[in-house]
Amino acid sequence: MKTSYWLSIIAAAVLATGAASFRSARAGEPCARTKFETKLVADACAAGGLAKAKDVMKKWVKDNKSKQSGLECASCHSKMAPTYDLKPGGLETYRKLGGH
Ligand code: HEC
Repeated sequence: MKTSYWLSIIAAAVLATGAASFRSARAGEPCARTKFETKLVADACAAGGLAKAKDVMKKWVKDNKSKQSGLECASCHSKMAPTYDLKPGGLETYRKLGGH
């Protein structure tokens, strides 16, 4: 039947778009980066987007403050939201403190 053929195509399309918007709503805002140098941030962005990345970075800074006094977001980031640009040497500092 021609009609049911088209109806099933429309139904499939509606289901597909519904599923896609449901996924992105759950994951929240994605990270600005699409390429990652670190496993910590790559995993966090994949699992929970920007909010999760912020969480793990905050925890990471707390855990590593004892290794470098005065360690804060601005020690490595030249900009915060929305791009979270790194200072030159930001990644090296992260690795030096044991980040992966
Ligand atoms: C020791 C250096 C260092 C410090 C301190 C630091 N970060 Fe980061 N941060 C990084 C590096 C390196 C990356 C990029 C990781 C990558 O490319 O995989 C990053 C990435 C991020 C991202 C991902 C952004 C995106 O959308 O791509 C967020 C969010 C972030 N940091 C938040 C913070 C916050 C909030 C703080 C302070 C609590 C902080 N960072 C402190 C080194 C640091």
